[in-house]
Amino acid sequence: MSEDFKIMVCINGKFMDADEAKISVFDHGLLYGDGVFDTIAAVDGKIWWLDEHLDRLIEGCSAISLEHPWSKSQLSELAKETFQRMKGPNGRIRITITRGVGEIPSYSINSCKPNLIIFVTPLDFPQESTYSTGISLLSLKYSRLFPRVKNLSFLPSVLGCLEAKTTGFDDSVFVNSSGDVSEGTTWNIFLLVDGKLMTPGDSLLIGITRNKVIELAESMGINVEVRSVSLKTLYSAQEIFVTGTTKRILGVTRVDDFVIGEGSVGQLTQKLSKEFRRIFY
Ligand SMILES: Cc1ncc(COP(=O)(O)O)c(C=O)c1O
Repeated sequence: MSEDFKIMVCINGKFMDADEAKISVFDHGLLYGDGVFDTIAAVDGKIWWLDEHLDRLIEGCSAISLEHPWSKSQLSELAKETFQRMKGPNGRIRITITRGVGEIPSYSINSCKPNLIIFVTPLDFPQESTYSTGISLLSLKYSRLFPRVKNLSFLPSVLGCLEAKTTGFDDSVFVNSSGDVSEGTTWNIFLLVDGKLMTPGDSLLIGITRNKVIELAESMGINVEVRSVSLKTLYSAQEIFVTGTTKRILGVTRVDDFVIGEGSVGQLTQKLSKEFRRIFY
């Protein structure tokens, strides 16, 4: 990381140092988890798929009836400038839009004035050795509220990470009330079953990386089926990998007590991961 690296914050279009950045204790984002966010990777000076992330953020605002004054191009310019001001080659750009502060005390959203918070922190990918060895997953009967929206109620992911770590796993995968696998704490999941690559389509955030990996696989002649996947199917998969902005493509070698495939990162996973990193980041 560059020595000049500095965390920069932009609140409602105004840039400031991290220690000057303040938001009201009455903001509904803090009080009720009422808001949306997105995380974008900047690698070697290039911001990846900003357009797609902003589309998802804007759609998320519409889905929760969060009306705000910022256009997509304004959000894009502010995100780019916050990244440039941080002066590092790599960054994790987080854009948050909260419902803001309204009448007090009240759940009423009518008088709320939304807040836009953008900041850039260092972007750390998993260690190279983790890409080689793969990770283990703990299954949990958790689900996020309104999973298609990257909303601020992220407690399932926070507790999912914590529970995985305290029980000796690397991360957690969520299973919904019907017993189907949905997504992970901060990523989507793919699996190879009987030679077919598949990924769940319900009760999850439609990951930008997931979409790019589907396109990448198809460009390599590998069809991806979007379908429901039971936990039992996951246990018996030949290969499993996860995808996310800050993970890229990461192999999975164990789920609960079940070893996946040969217990090492699968061949197809390696092939896709190599191609992803060659073409993208
Ligand atoms: C719950 C959840 N699912 C999936 C993803 C993957 O989405 P993306 O590929 O856009 O990073 C994320 C990313 O943070 C997430 O938080």
